[in-house]
Amino acid sequence: MPDKKLHLAAFVSAGPVSGSPAGWRHPEADGDLLSAAYYQNIGRLLEEGRFDLLFIADILAIPDTLGGSLNSQLRYGALGALRLDPLVVLSIIAGATKHLGLGATLSTTYAQPYVLARALATLDHLSGGRAAWNIVTSFQEAEARNFGLTEQLSREGRYERADEFLEVVTKLWNSWEDGALVRDRQTPLFADPARVHRIDHSGKWFNVRGPLNVSRLRKDVRSSSKLALRIVAAISLRDGPRSSS
Ligand SMILES: Cc1cc2nc3c(=O)[nH]c(=O)nc-3n(C[C@H](O)[C@H](O)[C@H](O)COP(=O)(O)O)c2cc1C
Repeated sequence: MPDKKLHLAAFVSAGPVSGSPAGWRHPEADGDLLSAAYYQNIGRLLEEGRFDLLFIADILAIPDTLGGSLNSQLRYGALGALRLDPLVVLSIIAGATKHLGLGATLSTTYAQPYVLARALATLDHLSGGRAAWNIVTSFQEAEARNFGLTEQLSREGRYERADEFLEVVTKLWNSWEDGALVRDRQTPLFADPARVHRIDHSGKWFNVRGPLNVSRLRKDVRSSSKLALRIVAAISLRDGPRSSS
C-alpha cells in the first residue's frame, strides 16, 4: 500500500466569517477579530490539529454585487464586509506557530511584482520558509473601481499580466544566488556583489531592473515553465509538506 499522506489546508478569511455565513453571531464565537490574539489562536489551533496550511482568501473591495449596494454585506457581516490584509495577519501568525504553512491571497492585477516579491520573501524568511501564495487575478468589478479603473481588465488581459507578473517575481526571487548573503564581520563582507544580479526585465506590463532588496528565499523557485511555476508558487512554497501522521 503506497504511503499516501492526507494534507489539510484551512481556507480562512481575516474577517467576521469564513466558511459559515453569520459565523460572527454564534454565541461561542470569539468576537475580537481585530486583535492579534484572535488570529494567533487560529494558527495554534490549526497547528495542534496537524493542518499543513492556513490560507487566507481575499478580495480588494467590499463586494456590491447585490444591487450595486454595500448594505447586505455590511448589515449582516458577510464574507466581504471586512477583511484584514492577509500578509499582515500571516506575519503575526508566523510568530505564534512553527510548522503551519502560511498562504496569502495576492492579486497579480492590482499589485506590483517588486512589492509583492519583497513582501512574500520577507514573510518566508521571518517564518522559516513557510510562506505560500494563492495567486489570483481578481475577478470582481468592485476591485477594479478601487484601482482607478471603471471596468476590470478582460480575463485574457488579467491572465497575460499574471504570466508576466510571475516571471518577474521569480526572476526577483532568484536575483540573489545561493550563498550571496555572507555576513562575514571580519573581512568585512555582508553580501557578495558578484552573486546579486539585476534582472533588467522589460515586457508588455512591467519594466523592472532589480535586484530584489531581500536575499534569496529558503527554497528553490527555479522552475521555468509558467504553468509549473504557477502550481509551485500556489501550492508548495514550503520545504516539504508536514505529514499528518
Ligand atoms: C479554492 C479557491 C479559492 C479562491 N480564492 C480566491 C480569493 O481569495 N480571491 C479571489 O479574488 N479569487 C479567489 N478564487 C477565484 C480564482 O482566483 C478565479 O478567479 C476563479 O476561480 C475563476 O477563474 P477564472 O478567473 O479563470 O475565470 C479562488 C478560487 C478557488 C477555486
